This record gives sequence, structure tokens and C-alpha cells, in this order.
Amino acid sequence: GIPKFVKIVEVGPRDGLQNEKNIVPTSVKIELIHRLASTGLSVIEATSFVSPKWVPQLADAKDVMQAVHSLRGIRLPVLTPNLKGFEAAIAAGAREVAIFASASESFSKSNINCSIEESLIRFRAVTRAAKQLSIPVRGYVSCIAGCPVEGPIPPSKVAYVAKELYDMGCFEISLGDTIGVGTPGTIVPMLLAVMAVVPIDKLAVHFHDTYGQSLPNILVSLQMGISTVDSSVAGLGGCPYAKGASGNVATEDVVYMLNGLGVKTNVDLPKLMLAGHFISNHLGRPSTSKTAIAFNNS
Ligand code: HMG
Ligand code: MG
Repeated sequence: GIPKFVKIVEVGPRDGLQNEKNIVPTSVKIELIHRLASTGLSVIEATSFVSPKWVPQLADAKDVMQAVHSLRGIRLPVLTPNLKGFEAAIAAGAREVAIFASASESFSKSNINCSIEESLIRFRAVTRAAKQLSIPVRGYVSCIAGCPVEGPIPPSKVAYVAKELYDMGCFEISLGDTIGVGTPGTIVPMLLAVMAVVPIDKLAVHFHDTYGQSLPNILVSLQMGISTVDSSVAGLGGCPYAKGASGNVATEDVVYMLNGLGVKTNVDLPKLMLAGHFISNHLGRPSTSKTAIAFNNS
């Protein structure tokens, strides 16, 4: 059976905005996080402490974090690719971080400018520093179904990287279909391979909607026992280093499906749609959430 409760990890302010060409004002990012926090979401990925040369949109990470870190009752993880990012995140008030490895050698190079093995060495330095401060670290594996350069990625490669992240102390491993090429046909064998080496309750899934496969992929993941799902309000998103990657699955659509399945999320859908409306208005384009579109037309 599927889990009775699903934890949604809202990644809109980070994954959703990182690829926006026009710089979103810091105040808009802060208001978005506040609005998302009011929906009942328990985890909101707030920003990234990465190189501003690589991701100019998130160059205001320090200001965003300083403005939101004291929000009560909510976890606000931030991406930290190395010790420099980790130290900056902690100094700005972050109390949870995420490291991000890839199952594809080519994507690792284009996203974080090093090989998979080199990245694991950097990430061990981050998890060691985090442990000393009792900071929880989430681990991402990207390109879990395919890579823009290498094509299909074997499940064994995903399982290897997931286990490395788990063994270095990550409390949760998010499996990211960065370019959204996976279908239930490839996601199920990938999950089976990863579940053989990392406990299922430590796994999350992270889908991008390039081919419209996110909801079926989430459904099969739930059926296999996954109970943590990443999504992005209004379907914002795309990775700057993954050409053609479209937005993350929309949080509104995930909540709508989970409501229909009778799965609890604690997320208030009308409030979530208001948050989606707020950021879509600001960006000057319609939400890609089917649920938001349907409600706006009704
Ligand atoms: P690099 O150029 O190899 O870094 O970048 P470096 O160590 O050689 O340093 C070069 C310069 O960057 C130096 O500054 C450093 O101080 C600075 P300079 O001396 O030239 O003035 N620097 C930093 N500045 C700020 N914060 C830092 C930092 N580190 C070094 N943390 C690096 C390596 C990892 C920094 C770079 O490649 C980078 O920032 N990459 C991040 C890319 C990114 O954010 N991608 C999107 C997130 S991943 C994703 O979206 C996938 C996911 O959603 C899952 C999925 O969908 O599958 C998670
Ligand atoms: Mg992503």
C-alpha cells in the first residue's frame, strides 16, 4: 500500500528560481518563502550557497537566509557544494544543508566542475563539518534516469552514489531526474537498485516534468514505499547546467493527487495556490501547474 503521510520538500525558491534569467528581487524571494511557510509545508529549500558566477540568480543567498532563518516550525535547507558554501550558509543562519552529487560523470563536471569521486571527497568534508555542529545534511543524486550528454544512466551507478552519500551521514537521499526523462519503466528498476543499499525511509524522489512523467513516476515511487517527494510551487524550475530540463513537478499537482489518494500532507492547497499565483504574477507568466490553471478557470 502507499504511505498514509507524505512529506513534501518544497524546492521552488531554490530549484524553481535558480534558472530564472531575470534576477528576482530578494524581497520577492523572502515573501515567497513566507507564503509557502503559511501553507503548512514543513520543509522549504530556501536558496543555494554556490558560486554567484555559476548561479547569478542566487547571489543573494546570504540576505535571503538571514531574513527567513528564524521562521518558526519550518526547516529551510540550502544547497552547499563545498566547505566554503557550508561556512557561508551557517554564518547566515542555516540549520540544515544539502549536498548534490551526480550519477553522471559528465553532469558532475558541468554542474560542479569536478568528477564524481572528487565531489564525494568535498562532500565528506561538508558532512564532517556539519556533524560537528549537529547540522542535518540531505544528499541529492542527480541524473538518476538520464544525462543530457551520456544518455541513459544505469541503476547501479545511481545506487553507488546514493550509498556513498548515505554512508557519509546524509539523513535523506533525494533521487533527482534532473532532465525529466524517466518513466515508470525506468524509475522502478532504478528504485529497486537503490533500495537494495539505502533504506527506503531514507529516500526521496525529485522529478522534473520535461516529458510530463512526474505524477506517474511519483505514484509508482509511493507504491514502492517512498514517502518524501520534492516539488516546486507553480512548477517553477530547470537546472542551468541541464539544457532542456523543464520545471519541477508542481507542488499543487502533487498535493491534488495526494488529496485524491487520501494521503495526508498537511499542506493547504488554496493557500499553496495563492503562493503560486504570487510568484507567477511576479515572473509575468502563467503557472505550469495544471491544478492552478484548472482552479483559475473555474
Ligand atoms: P569552481 O569554479 O570549480 O570553484 O566551481 P573553485 O573552487 O575553483 O573556485 C572558483 C571561485 O568560486 C573562487 O572565487 C571561489 O572562492 C568561488 P574567486 O577566487 O574566483 O573569486 N567559490 C564560491 N563562491 C561562493 N560560494 C561557494 C563557492 N565555492 C567556490 N560555495 C562550484 C565549483 C561548486 C563552486 C561551482 O561549480 C558551483 O557553484 N556550482 C553550483 C551549480 C548549481 O548550483 N547547480 C544547480 C544545483 S544542482 C540541481 O539543480 C540538481 C538538483 O535539483 C537535483 C536534480 O534535479 O536532479 C539538486
Ligand atoms: Mg532539480
